[in-house]
Amino acid sequence: MAPLEGKVALITGAGGMKGVGRAIALELSRQGAAVALTDVARDHTVAPPLEMAAGWKGIESVAAEIRREGGRAACFQCDLTEREQIEVLVGSVANEFGRIDILVNNARAIIGRDQVSVADLDAEVWERFLKINTTAPFLLTKYAARIMIEKGEGGRIINIGSDLSKQARRFAVAYAASKFGLIGLTQGAALDLAEHRITVNAVCPGSVNTDRLSYAEQARAEAEGVPLEMIRSRAVEAAAAQVPMGRIAESEDIAGLVGFLAGPQAGFITGQAYNVNGGQLFH
Ligand SMILES: NC(=O)c1ccc[n+]([C@@H]2O[C@H](COP(=O)([O-])OP(=O)(O)OC[C@H]3O[C@@H](n4cnc5c(N)ncnc54)[C@H](O)[C@@H]3O)[C@@H](O)[C@H]2O)c1
Repeated sequence: MAPLEGKVALITGAGGMKGVGRAIALELSRQGAAVALTDVARDHTVAPPLEMAAGWKGIESVAAEIRREGGRAACFQCDLTEREQIEVLVGSVANEFGRIDILVNNARAIIGRDQVSVADLDAEVWERFLKINTTAPFLLTKYAARIMIEKGEGGRIINIGSDLSKQARRFAVAYAASKFGLIGLTQGAALDLAEHRITVNAVCPGSVNTDRLSYAEQARAEAEGVPLEMIRSRAVEAAAAQVPMGRIAESEDIAGLVGFLAGPQAGFITGQAYNVNGGQLFH
């Protein structure tokens, strides 16, 4: 039997064509889980060029891929800045599938507008980062944990952090604060939920080759009059040069560890924050 047969996984931010969320959804589905995919309605005017060229439809496209492989997937739109929508999301997933066993908090605020000195950072941008990257994972944990506790069969909560969960970087104070906060949530929730056999862990990637959205990269491409792909490939090359293993992560590198932490062999691991970064950061 597949290790996650009969389990249901809810994955946020699952709609990117090269995103970490899609890779996690495919990994968990291939291990036998039914997957609930959620994302905000994506603004196609700021979608990565590869997605536009492919006619990519976000979580609907991921669900179609999963169904083609014989898996079970359902889509739920949710804006994670809206508390009520998060509560409705968790209720809808539980109604559709009858349970939630695995929650993966993967979504994040689109980066770019945060990449300024703390002295110039808009309070609204700070609040948006905290809302999407920290408060939404708290609310999802709260509501999903209630369903897991009621079922009485344990559960897995996996938060996608960052190298910036452990080491801040210049011009990223909102992102770093939100991702440090996620580690506090991971440890605290692990303690609160341990008696229910619900584990809570974090996975902390270094740079990932996701074609992620970045307002800053879009602005740079416009300013230099070059395609966004060129700005992006330069950024990937520069990031790879900083990694001892000579490349940045692919989304599948992150999904592999999430798949392990979601599975039966990881039942005694909780409150931890594991790096996946090719040797770039050790603590
Ligand atoms: N890409 C990297 O280099 C990198 C590095 C370290 C950590 N990470 C982490 O990995 C995870 C996935 O990264 P990625 O590059 O695949 O993501 P991404 O930047 O492409 O976006 C993640 C998803 O979040 C969704 N999202 C944005 N605003 C939302 C909202 N208001 N409500 C609901 N969903 C919303 C987006 O639509 C997208 O699907 C994130 O938690 C990120 O912090 C990524």
